[in-house]
Amino acid sequence: MNSNKTSRIRHLKLCCGVSAILLIIVVVVLTTLSLTIFKPRQPEITAHPHLVFNPGSLSQQLNITIQMVITIDNPNYESFRFKNTTAYVTYREDVVAEVPIVQQHVPGHAKLNVTTSADLMVSKLISNPYFWNDVAAGCLNLNSKSTLHGHVSLLKFFKLHFKALSSCDISFFISLRNVESRCNTKIKL
Ligand SMILES: *[C@@H]1O[C@H](CO)[C@@H](O)[C@H](O)[C@H]1NC(C)=O
Ligand SMILES: *[C@@H]1O[C@H](CO)[C@@H](O)[C@H](O)[C@H]1NC(C)=O
Ligand SMILES: *[C@@H]1O[C@H](CO)[C@@H](O)[C@H](O)[C@H]1NC(C)=O
Repeated sequence: MNSNKTSRIRHLKLCCGVSAILLIIVVVVLTTLSLTIFKPRQPEITAHPHLVFNPGSLSQQLNITIQMVITIDNPNYESFRFKNTTAYVTYREDVVAEVPIVQQHVPGHAKLNVTTSADLMVSKLISNPYFWNDVAAGCLNLNSKSTLHGHVSLLKFFKLHFKALSSCDISFFISLRNVESRCNTKIKL
């Protein structure tokens, strides 16, 4: 009876010892991995906007569609997901387009193009007091801001939530009908 009990205790001690060692190994492996493979690098988000002047609308009201190809470059080993969001395009602080961005799964080491579009609120653009001055100067400066909410799955167990703020300055050169954009992304974990 007594020897049976001590053997059980010994067994329990051995079991605890093995568990502790396993736990330490797991922690060391996870820490090493998180510092090497999973060390998050900034995904790059760039927008390539394009303005389309819809014909047949000139008789009533100017109708312009802003089309965007959003390129998401994920340099990390891990894939990530983000939820539906909206890019707000502003002209001198006024929102002139709300461009929907549909939720995506971005694989690791991949570049993804998301195409989207929205009508430009032309009346709001034209009624802006700076509009005709900017047209005369030949360049309209727009800005597009979006917030992506998403998560990275580490080893399928851990979900790391993040918020990415993307801001793009868009210059539309009227005479050239040419658009240039510069984007900047900030990630908060
Ligand atoms: C502008 O034109 C597009 C494409 O022809 C059309 O889908 C949209 O409804 C028009 N918008 C307005 C406000 O007229
Ligand atoms: C995201 O947007 C798409 C397209 O508009 C829609 O079908 C889907 O239901 C939305 N998902 C969520 C979670 O709202
Ligand atoms: C994504 O779009 C950019 C710009 O339009 C283009 O250069 C690139 O080839 C596209 N990539 C893919 C994978 O479609």
